Amino acid sequence: MSTAERVGYYGEFGGRFVAETLVPALEELERAFETHVKSASFQSEWRGLLASYVGRPTPIYRADRLAHDLGLEPGTLSELWLKREDLCHTGAHKINNALGQVLLAKRLGKTRIIAETGAGQHGVATATACAMQGLPCEVYMGAVDVERQAPNVARMQMLGARVIPVESGSRTLKDAMNEALRDWVTNVRTTHYCVGSAAGPHPYPLLVSELQRVIGDEARAQLAEQVGPPDAVIACVGGGSNAIGMFRAFINDPVALYGVEAAGEGVETGRHAATLTAGRVGVLHGSRTRVLADDFGQIIEAHSISAGLDYPGVGPEHAWLASSGRATYLTAKDDEAVRSAYQLARTEGILIALETAHAFARLADIARSEHLRVGRPVRLAVCLSGRGDKDLATLLERKP
Ligand SMILES: Cc1ncc(COP(=O)(O)O)c(C=O)c1O
Repeated sequence: MSTAERVGYYGEFGGRFVAETLVPALEELERAFETHVKSASFQSEWRGLLASYVGRPTPIYRADRLAHDLGLEPGTLSELWLKREDLCHTGAHKINNALGQVLLAKRLGKTRIIAETGAGQHGVATATACAMQGLPCEVYMGAVDVERQAPNVARMQMLGARVIPVESGSRTLKDAMNEALRDWVTNVRTTHYCVGSAAGPHPYPLLVSELQRVIGDEARAQLAEQVGPPDAVIACVGGGSNAIGMFRAFINDPVALYGVEAAGEGVETGRHAATLTAGRVGVLHGSRTRVLADDFGQIIEAHSISAGLDYPGVGPEHAWLASSGRATYLTAKDDEAVRSAYQLARTEGILIALETAHAFARLADIARSEHLRVGRPVRLAVCLSGRGDKDLATLLERKP
């Protein structure tokens, strides 16, 4: 199924709502998607590095102890599989996209890379790709996130990147993206803006989803070889790149797709980042999508314990998948995510990122509803998007 009716659109969502100065760069990127990203030489360079440098394919792991610990009625869940993106070099799925975009930028003759980051994982991934490709890298990061993701700030600096704290607005991911777009407008000739999620103006949602679909393609092939297809796949949703990367391979299969957004302190409190569940249609960062906004269309601040989900927008394809009903989006609160991170650590010996933990918090509910839908024990596959080292201070502070 092709989700794009018009180029750059997913139903009524997507598009390119940017300053005139950026249009030529976005058009160049759109052409580059066809001529470079789809070319055999780009694919062989990028996939070669995914294998030799990133460590792909990542394993798919059957988590029996966690499955048991979910406390489900017997016969509800047959197996629970974890797609281990935490085992990618740098510890999250973000490197798949960052490496692809940095290779593309080199082919376009760009001499400088900028990025925005929330959790710091995309910043680390971009700094890593720039270091190994010999390009200077500057990363915009909200001042709140600089503090709560300090280990990743140190990693980016060690890799030679300049981290620029952003003091405007809520001092989180949205503001970092604003500043990166501002920088890009000024330096567009020399600079590639390496967007970290499947969000932003066309062609970024398309480009990022294509660079992340390796997650779902691998998972689908691994499951087919080992046991058979899953009944449902699940991922957390910030901007939506690990989720769309996981979903893409299954979109034409009879497989349920679940995204889990951050409910922060509870959707009813207003302090959340549940854009698809409680947002409205609007424009943010160059794309028509679902956003958190007031009655006058002003973007309002998101809240999540996890920096990577603390964003008042979402990639346009998710807005479309939600409105078409092809995917289901649930929410998990801060404290539920913390509980799930501890549960996985204690049952399976895996420390997950707080972002990832949101997906795990809804597994029991998803297993029950899928069991009702298909009428037999269900097989679930969840994207374990990243490792939790960066969140240890928060996790220890919030120990349940
Ligand atoms: C480990 C991890 N998972 C998920 C996300 C959310 O991003 P996305 O929705 O683009 O996958 C982030 C963002 O920083 C992250 O670091």
